[in-house]
Amino acid sequence: MAVGIFDSGLGGLTVLDAVSKRLPEVPFVYFGDNMHAPYGVRDADDVFNLTTRATERLWEEGCDLVILACNTASAAALRRMQESWLPQGKRALGVFVPLIEALTERQWGDNSPPREVNVKHVALFATPATVASRAFQRELAFRAIGVDVEAQSCGGLVDAIEEGDMILAEALVRSHTDALLRKMPHPDAAILGCTHYPLMEREFQAALGAHVKVFSQANLVAESLADYLERHPVMIGEGSASKFLTTGDPLRVSGHATNFLRRPVSFEAAF
Ligand code: DGL
Repeated sequence: MAVGIFDSGLGGLTVLDAVSKRLPEVPFVYFGDNMHAPYGVRDADDVFNLTTRATERLWEEGCDLVILACNTASAAALRRMQESWLPQGKRALGVFVPLIEALTERQWGDNSPPREVNVKHVALFATPATVASRAFQRELAFRAIGVDVEAQSCGGLVDAIEEGDMILAEALVRSHTDALLRKMPHPDAAILGCTHYPLMEREFQAALGAHVKVFSQANLVAESLADYLERHPVMIGEGSASKFLTTGDPLRVSGHATNFLRRPVSFEAAF
């Protein structure tokens, strides 16, 4: 039994970390498409082609269920995959919905009409492709009314994190947050809408101020996966080993991943 976790690079490790703590008995196979990161500057077809290639590779590891631990792929490719690409018996789930359910104070699968919620002014930080897709606003509109969303596309931030250049990453967090606050001076909540960004959560919180509630996905996705697997136990595929696959240089990626997770992580070549 194994579940696949996919991201364009290292960001999905924030989700992997949370799901493996929540579900210690489940083996996870991680796929980082580091060679092609960042996805956030690619067009939707490109993201679809790369995401489906990675998903097929995870099937080979015995994963029938693949979590797209990447907002860009969830925004640009997931719906097309679910509607016209996934064969019977395979599932792909994204990372948007658990976050939006938390923000709108909904239980899983509560499909009641949109209603007023506590948060009124939401700052969304995401990649250029996720911001352009407006997928976040679309999913939010199904669940809440009267929420003002201001999106900030954080160009360069994923590249800096992938490179391990945390000084540049910190400077980018500050300048993107300043830009957001010029457009929306008093957000009550902020969404880190890219799985790379929780690696900079402290910096976002500091730049926004302690009064802004920062939502990040890892734990929310872990809870929702646990709930999903309880309801669909057959979706734990046949694979039996945890492993880390990358399209990048395994040594280099392992080094960065080990720094981020603060435990030894060893990637192998995906192809
Ligand atoms: N971690 C990704 C996301 O959640 C990827 C970003 C990228 O590759 O640009 O959007």
